[in-house]
Order: sequence, then structure tokens, then C-alpha cells
Amino acid sequence: MKNKVIVTGGCGYIGSHTVVSLIEEGYEVVVFDDLSNSKEFILNKIEEITGKAPVFEKVNLAKESVCKEIFQKHNDAKAVIHFAAYKAVGESVQKPLMYYKNNLFSLINILNAQVENKIENIIFSSSATVYGEPDLLPITESNEVKQPFSPYGNTKKVAEEILLDLTKSEHNFSAISLRYFNPIGAHSSGLIGELPSGIPNNLLPYITQCAIGILEQLKVFGDDYDTKDGTAIRDYIHVVDLAKAHVAALNRLLKKEQETSYEVFNLGTGKGYTVLEIIREFEKVANMKLNYKIVERREGDVPELYAATKLAEEKLGWKALLGLNEMIRSSWQWEQQLRASVKEGY
Ligand code: UFG
Repeated sequence: MKNKVIVTGGCGYIGSHTVVSLIEEGYEVVVFDDLSNSKEFILNKIEEITGKAPVFEKVNLAKESVCKEIFQKHNDAKAVIHFAAYKAVGESVQKPLMYYKNNLFSLINILNAQVENKIENIIFSSSATVYGEPDLLPITESNEVKQPFSPYGNTKKVAEEILLDLTKSEHNFSAISLRYFNPIGAHSSGLIGELPSGIPNNLLPYITQCAIGILEQLKVFGDDYDTKDGTAIRDYIHVVDLAKAHVAALNRLLKKEQETSYEVFNLGTGKGYTVLEIIREFEKVANMKLNYKIVERREGDVPELYAATKLAEEKLGWKALLGLNEMIRSSWQWEQQLRASVKEGY
């Protein structure tokens, strides 16, 4: 029989790509999503890509009774992959309680429901933000975890601490936190990708929305960092590679290959690019000039982040395969197909 996996936030950006990978690998997927930052039509697109629609439950997991009930209904699942969370850094500074409530209540409710129903494996969406401004590059998993710059980032740090504590008290419980660097790109079909609500905070959707004429001008936040061209360096990773890492982590959990019941892996390519390098690559891919200007640094941004990838390679047997050109090409293809389908009313 196929293993059943619950994917919270499975209609979202990274969630939907992971659902595709899971279905392709033969898993039976149930998506829990409240659609607060995603659209239900993504499920149809997943079906178009894989030939199979995941079971869908529209639920707000921050509500304890709702969470309890839905887990009872699906108590034959073997694992949870937990993506569902608020993720806008700036908004979290304005509304910290909303972030702590949503991101931590839902995690605690899910973990309680897992323990009750003996669903003893979880993969958690964490972030490189838990490293704060790192002292050492590339960042290994044993780099110090620091106070993140935003309440959003802190929800990731606290969530990881909750998972560690739980795996100590519940002896059969296993957890893996995956610390994402900068996910970009979209599925090669052009059918699923990032759907930012409102004005995007992240670089790639901002660039593609400028290029397609929704936004006027990209602001490059600072060109006075100590980097080769003065703009900040990030480790961009293709969302399809990221999705595959979740399948690798899930296989590790289900085959009980873990060395300790709580493990952490960086997910990046190990290669850093500056903001100007990203702009140049986009201009090449889209064959156009991008309207941008250099402005002040953005508060909370660190100069340089890129991952050490060895641990994921050794333990998960996973490595990012897709390069920057493919990441940017697929982001641009997605933006163009999305806008064409918006005109047709989806
Ligand atoms: N940038 C711009 N202009 C923009 C947007 C971004 O110049 O309009 C720059 C940023 O200053 C940064 C780079 O592009 O140097 C990447 O910025 P993003 O906002 O795309 O990504 P961040 O690295 O700031 O944040 C990402 C995730 C967070 C996570 C963090 C962890 O979005 O969720 O990585 O490092 F917390």
C-alpha cells in the first residue's frame, strides 16, 4: 500500500511543488490548506501535471478543535510535511502577535494531533534566517543559531526548539527541519509557481512583475556592501530541487535512517549571486532591460548568505541540480503564463 502523507500548505509555492514530487514518487498526498495565501485552482494544475489530484481539506490548523478533527479523519497518514505558515518578514514586524499565533499555534496543534494519532514523523519548513548574520561562510548546520531579525524568523527558530524538545520527550517521534536559502523558479510546465499576494517582498517576483509591467521599477536595496559589486549575495535555489529534497527527507524518516531523532539540513546550492548578477541574468533570459535603481539598504538584510551543502548531500543523498539560468527562465515563463491566464479568468 502507498504511504499517505499530509502536506500542510500544499497549495502554496513550495508546498505545491513538493506535492507534485511526492505524487511522482508514488506517495498518496492529502493537502491541508486554509487558502489564506494560496488558490484552490493550484490543485487542478497539480492534477494536470501528475495525472492525480491530491485529497484536499480546507482547514485552519491554528484552531485546535479543527486541527484535532481533521487529523482524526486522516490518522492513517505516516508523516506530515508542514509548510503552512505566514512568511512576510515586513508584515511580521508590524503584526508580531498575528505571526506568533498563526505559526506557533498551528505547529503545536499539529504536533499534539500527531502524538494523539501516532503519526510520528514531521518535516518542517525552516529558513536560513535562523542563522541571523553568520560569522562563517559557507553556512554549515553547526553554525550558531542566532536571534533572527524579524518575528517571522523567530517563529522558525522557536518552532525548531519545540521540535527538538518534543523528539526528546516522545521517543518514537522524529523530525527534520529543512532550512531553505532563497527559493525561486517554477515548475517546467509553467502551470504552478509563486503567487505573491499584493506587492512582492522577494526579489524574483518583484523583477518578473516589473518586467511584465505590473510594477514600475525595481529598487535594489544597497550597493555599498562588501561584495564584488556592492549588492547583497544570496544562495538562490530552484523550487523543484527544493521539492525533491523534501521527498529525500521523507524517505529518510520513513526508512528510519536518521542518526538522531531531530535533524537539520540546509537546502541551498552552495553558490551565492549578487542582486546585480540576478538582474543581468534576467535581462539575458528575457532579452530586455529592466528598470531599476539603487536605493538605501533594507533594514534587517545581511550582506552575504550561502549554504554549505555537504550534509544534505551525504545524509539525504540530495543535491541541487538546476542552475541560475533555469531558475530565472522558469520564473519568467511562469509570470508570463500566469498573466495570460489571469486575462482569461484562470
Ligand atoms: N532585494 C532588492 N529589491 C527587492 C527585493 C529584494 O534589492 O525589491 C534584494 C534584498 O536586499 C536581498 C536579495 O534581493 O539582498 C534577496 O531578497 P529577498 O527578499 O528575495 O530574500 P531574503 O534573502 O531577504 O529573504 C529570504 C526569504 C525569507 C528568509 C530569508 C532567510 O524571503 O523568508 O531569505 O535568509 F527569512
